[in-house]
Amino acid sequence: MAEELIIANTEDKIERYKTLLPQIEALIGGEDDLVANLANISAALRETFSFFWVGFYTVKGNELVLGPFQGPIACTRIRIGKGVCGTAWQQKKTLIVPNVDEFPGHIACNPASKSEIVLPAFKNGEVALVLDIDCDKLNDFDKTDEQYLQQLMRMIERLL
Ligand code: SME
Repeated sequence: MAEELIIANTEDKIERYKTLLPQIEALIGGEDDLVANLANISAALRETFSFFWVGFYTVKGNELVLGPFQGPIACTRIRIGKGVCGTAWQQKKTLIVPNVDEFPGHIACNPASKSEIVLPAFKNGEVALVLDIDCDKLNDFDKTDEQYLQQLMRMIERLL
């Protein structure tokens, strides 16, 4: 396993994702512990993009429970349909929120967070966990992030 993450030497996020994803694939390919892998994925994403907060919430009963993450402390439990994460879970789809203050019911774990993307991973057709990424700038996420992060979610699904 590579101990050091290589980050594309450019501000172009497509190049950064293209450099990052094969490294994540290699990283998780040699390890079968889900928590260990989610922890390294959080760290790799934050290191590559300097996101404000990157982490996972896993479905436990009728709540999402905080899993491995990188960044400031965060809310530990989110009910289905609540906040961006609970809504992505309920609707079983990726949500991009350009301005969290304009998302009804957004859960402000930290006031510095301005924009957000949440993507679900599925097991047997049901959401098993979500990836939540927060940025301290407005409008930071777009279809490019969605496209590459969807690829990441498909990799994560192979671990579930
Ligand atoms: N903002 C999220 C809650 C999780 S934190 O951002 C880490 C939401 O509205 O679901």
